[in-house]
Amino acid sequence: MSKIKKIKIDGHKMCLVTESEEKKKRIKDSASHCGYCLNRSDINFCTGAGKEMCLELKNDKIKTVLEPFGGSGWHTLFIQKIIKPKLHLVLDISQGCVDSIEKSLKGPVVLKKDSFKFVNKLKKHHKFNKFDFIHADFNNYTFNKYLKLKSYRKMINSIFQISQDAVTLTDSAIYGLIRFKKNFGIYDDFFKMKMNNYEDYYKATADYYYEKYGFGLRKVIFWGGNAAMLLLRKDKKVKYKISKQQKRLNIEFV
Ligand SMILES: C[S@@+](CC[C@H](N)C(=O)[O-])C[C@H]1O[C@@H](n2cnc3c(N)ncnc32)[C@H](O)[C@@H]1O
Repeated sequence: MSKIKKIKIDGHKMCLVTESEEKKKRIKDSASHCGYCLNRSDINFCTGAGKEMCLELKNDKIKTVLEPFGGSGWHTLFIQKIIKPKLHLVLDISQGCVDSIEKSLKGPVVLKKDSFKFVNKLKKHHKFNKFDFIHADFNNYTFNKYLKLKSYRKMINSIFQISQDAVTLTDSAIYGLIRFKKNFGIYDDFFKMKMNNYEDYYKATADYYYEKYGFGLRKVIFWGGNAAMLLLRKDKKVKYKISKQQKRLNIEFV
């Protein structure tokens, strides 16, 4: 039997559906991250950035949103409440995540998909090949993965091609950079400059995205070992801010 937990995020009721053990065994591709999202007692720690990104985009007249890694839906909630898109397509590989979002929110269209395959296909779709905003809250994306793995490169290429205005990418590189200083060397070598801290990493990767895709960095929020980068399609570079996440969301289990 699936278990349902009820929570309130900033006063909004949400359901978290945990896949039953036997169902988890049957669904081979069920991402372990789903259970992780649903069962963490500190989920409020990493959710503030999702809300802050939505507030940053509030006045940008965004009508269509693609969210390839919907998870348990708390970012979906803020996209719905703050950005209020006309079309909001949410994907996740895990049935538990899809069920959680469908039980919690009426607005988005939620599909159980492998986003790495599906987003690449969307590019060629006659109707859904453009979205104003793509919010890509990856499990563990780093620029090193982009450099080394074709699947990530294809995904990032598709994201910047499909998005018309704004992209958020979560990037876990600092997790490795804080713990293993030699990891900076990978980026020193690629960018041909000395990376002294992770702010240098954001600046260098953002410059790369700007040169390659024409999206400039607006904002980075980092916390623990993770960060969210907001990039906007612009004619010239946008002025960016790098900040540590300040606010946690108010989350209660009910
Ligand atoms: C960091 S979590 C997203 C959290 C989400 N923003 C939220 O508000 O709860 C990443 C999600 O990506 C999903 N995922 C992992 N690999 C995937 C894939 N190939 N296609 C689609 N979803 C995937 C996991 O099931 C997980 O829910």
